[in-house]
Amino acid sequence: MHASVISMAALAACALAAPKFPQLDLDAAQPGSLEAVSEYFNLLAYKVQESRYLREAPACDLSKAQQPIAPTPLPPPTAGLILKHVAIGRGTQNYTCDANNATAVPVANGALATLFNASCVAAAYPDMLNMLPRVALLFNLTAPPVPSESAPVLSPASVRMAPSNLTVSGVHFFTNATTPYFNLDTDGGLSLGQIPCAKNNTADAPADAPRGQEGETAVPWLKLIAKDGATGDLQEVYRVETAGGSAPATCEGMPASFEVQYSAQYWFYSGKPE
Ligand SMILES: *[C@@H]1O[C@H](CO)[C@@H](O)[C@H](O)[C@H]1NC(C)=O
Ligand SMILES: *[C@@H]1O[C@H](CO)[C@@H](O)[C@H](O)[C@H]1NC(C)=O
Ligand SMILES: *[C@@H]1O[C@H](CO)[C@@H](O)[C@H](O)[C@H]1NC(C)=O
Ligand SMILES: *[C@@H]1O[C@H](CO)[C@@H](O)[C@H](O)[C@H]1NC(C)=O
Ligand SMILES: *[C@@H]1O[C@H](CO)[C@@H](O)[C@H](O)[C@H]1NC(C)=O
Ligand SMILES: *[C@@H]1O[C@H](CO)[C@@H](O)[C@H](O)[C@H]1NC(C)=O
Ligand SMILES: *[C@@H]1O[C@H](CO)[C@@H](O)[C@H](O)[C@H]1NC(C)=O
Repeated sequence: MHASVISMAALAACALAAPKFPQLDLDAAQPGSLEAVSEYFNLLAYKVQESRYLREAPACDLSKAQQPIAPTPLPPPTAGLILKHVAIGRGTQNYTCDANNATAVPVANGALATLFNASCVAAAYPDMLNMLPRVALLFNLTAPPVPSESAPVLSPASVRMAPSNLTVSGVHFFTNATTPYFNLDTDGGLSLGQIPCAKNNTADAPADAPRGQEGETAVPWLKLIAKDGATGDLQEVYRVETAGGSAPATCEGMPASFEVQYSAQYWFYSGKPE
């Protein structure tokens, strides 16, 4: 595949000992992905064209955004909470295996994902929003570039998600095996808060959900609720429209620890009005 002209710089100091922001490697797009990518670009071009005829730029009115519903619906957000942010997560689900036991089942061992701000897309273009995890999964994350003399410190605000050009809004990782964590306080970016979570509910992804880079099924959709220590009054997080990320059924042929590429939408709810 040809090198892309879309460059994405990525390096950020994080408040916690959080991982560095990776960049998406356009050169690493999957073979066979061109169809999905061109479909995406066609739609994007159409939307941009369409927005020329609007009197104003499309508004990021999150009150209009509709969270996708799982085939077996998750419980809705608690009444009174407000949709604060929608992000596309792109990263890996980690697993461990008993490498000496072919019938053992892989065990989830955290995740690491960069979060990209999709609030405006959620508000204005829900059809496009739902394509983003699938498209994002076609591009691999790479290590952040080394800072250069001309750009000694790169703000996450300058990082873009290919090919949609979304900016980084945060990072998702685990603080321990049962605590998924979201940091939406990026340097120079949004200060929406941070939330350690507990799993509240899970629902299978739709049967036709996008598969992973190696054909893995999509990880379940989730409702997560805040544990003690959340800031920004963030209270609930949903993982929906997942793509890839699942481990194989058994540990046969798998190493002791491994990663599976995934992408998903994350919907963040808080008690605070905007
Ligand atoms: C993406 O990364 C995975 C894991 O390192 C690798 O197996 C795969 O070949 C990569 N895909 C592309 C398109 O580079
Ligand atoms: C990023 O997200 C915030 C909050 O969800 C929103 O107010 C803002 O407009 C978004 N920015 C872009 C460029 O999407
Ligand atoms: C999980 O994945 C992240 C991102 O690739 C990696 O940095 C980390 O070392 C992995 N953790 C484990 C326990 O394998
Ligand atoms: C291998 O894993 C299976 C499934 O978890 C388990 O029933 C079995 O006892 C394990 N065998 C060994 C030798 O650990
Ligand atoms: C991405 O957005 C930035 C800032 O709005 C803009 O300067 C840049 O040209 C955009 N890149 C692409 C490929 O659209
Ligand atoms: C994981 O972290 C949470 C929140 O910090 C804490 O409440 C919990 O006790 C920890 N669990 C384990 C097994 O360490
Ligand atoms: C999920 O949240 C609801 C409402 O807060 C609560 O009643 C229920 O016990 C929770 N379930 C789990 C498994 O955490």
